[in-house]
Amino acid sequence: MKFFVDTAEIDEIKDLSGMNLVDGVTTNPSLIAKSGNDIKETIKKICEIVSGPVSAEVTATETSGMIEEGKILHSLSPNVVVKIPLTWEGLEACNKFTELKIPTNVTLCFSAPQALLAAKAGATYVSPFIGRLDDTGINGVDLIGEIREIYDNYDDLNTMILAASIRNINHVTQVAMIGADVATIPPKILKELVKHPLTDVGLSNFLNDWASTGQKIK
Ligand code: G3P
Repeated sequence: MKFFVDTAEIDEIKDLSGMNLVDGVTTNPSLIAKSGNDIKETIKKICEIVSGPVSAEVTATETSGMIEEGKILHSLSPNVVVKIPLTWEGLEACNKFTELKIPTNVTLCFSAPQALLAAKAGATYVSPFIGRLDDTGINGVDLIGEIREIYDNYDDLNTMILAASIRNINHVTQVAMIGADVATIPPKILKELVKHPLTDVGLSNFLNDWASTGQKIK
């Protein structure tokens, strides 16, 4: 499963990219707003750090505007993936980007029928938002399973499942077990993946026992 980092903070991306853990990056208008920086400058800087797919989201809501904005965003760097909302207009724009061979990430997906439409429009990625479904009392991970089952039934559905709105490390485990192609993970949660209290206790005990030997390796 590929790990994308879900942030527009340059320092966070730099920090994690050194660990060879960052296969790509996803941003959205809220993350750009939170960064306080210009979208084009931010996306260009991210693409200088990360060679993998970098999602940049259009903000127009009608088809022609999405296409115009998407072309501008993709022109910033060859690894820019144009992020478009899962609306009728977004699907129309997705069809156009498919024709133009511009990669797309169809976002704000909350149902299997939506994901089926995104795949039929030729989306490169579809982003089901599992955390936001959890917030409504629906088990968001179940949607990943439904989409995986549907996509695997048909050879002509080649869209990759990009599990998004990841809120905890269990989400990462669960979507990986189901077979999501990608998980886009907030930096804080990505760093939490390594932690386990028994690892800390075990290492402490190893080091205490080692100290009692009086030995040194170097
Ligand atoms: O960036 C897309 C998605 O990951 C947003 O997550 O936490 O705002 O629901 P969240």
